[in-house]
Amino acid sequence: MKEVGSFRLNVNGAVSDVEAGGATPLLYILRNDLCLNGPKYGCGLGECGACAVLVDGRAVRSCTVPLKALGSRQVTTLEGLAKSGRLHVVQRAFIEEAAAQCGYCLNGMIIAIVGLLEAKAEPDEADIRDALRHHLCRCGTHMEILAAARRAVAYARTDRAVGGSAEARNEVSP
Ligand code: FES
Repeated sequence: MKEVGSFRLNVNGAVSDVEAGGATPLLYILRNDLCLNGPKYGCGLGECGACAVLVDGRAVRSCTVPLKALGSRQVTTLEGLAKSGRLHVVQRAFIEEAAAQCGYCLNGMIIAIVGLLEAKAEPDEADIRDALRHHLCRCGTHMEILAAARRAVAYARTDRAVGGSAEARNEVSP
C-alpha cells in the first residue's frame, strides 16, 4: 500500500499543500491536483519532453520527478511564464513564428528554451539544437520551432539591452 503524505509545493509563485504518495510524479500533481494542464502527458518515461517544467529555473521532465524529491524548490509551469498579463518572450516568439501544428509538444519546447535562456544568455545554434534534441514533435514543425527559438534569443537580447522592459514598450525585434 502506498504511503500518503502531505507535501507543500511552490508552483508559479503560489504555495499549495497536497496529500499524495511521495513517489507520485510531479506531472500528476500539477495536472490533476493543481489543474495546471500546460505540461502534457506523453510517454510518462522521460523521453518525449511534453511534460517539461522548470524546477529552480532548470528544465526537467515532470513525469520523472517524484513529489518527495522536490523539497522547497520552485516549480514554474507554462502557466507561470507570463508576467503581469504579458507573455514571456519565448511564448511570444513561438506564436509569431506559428511554431505549432497540433501543439502537444509545445509546452516542452517552450520550457526547454526558457530553461536554456536561464542557463545561458547568448545560446548559439548548437545550444538551441541541443536543448530541443530530446523533445519529440510528430507534426514536423521543427523548422518553425527552431526559428522561434532563435527569435526568442533575439528578443531576450533586446530585452536585456533596454533594461528588461522591451516587451512593455513594444520595441523588440528579432
Ligand atoms: Fe514526460 Fe514524456 S511525458 S517525458
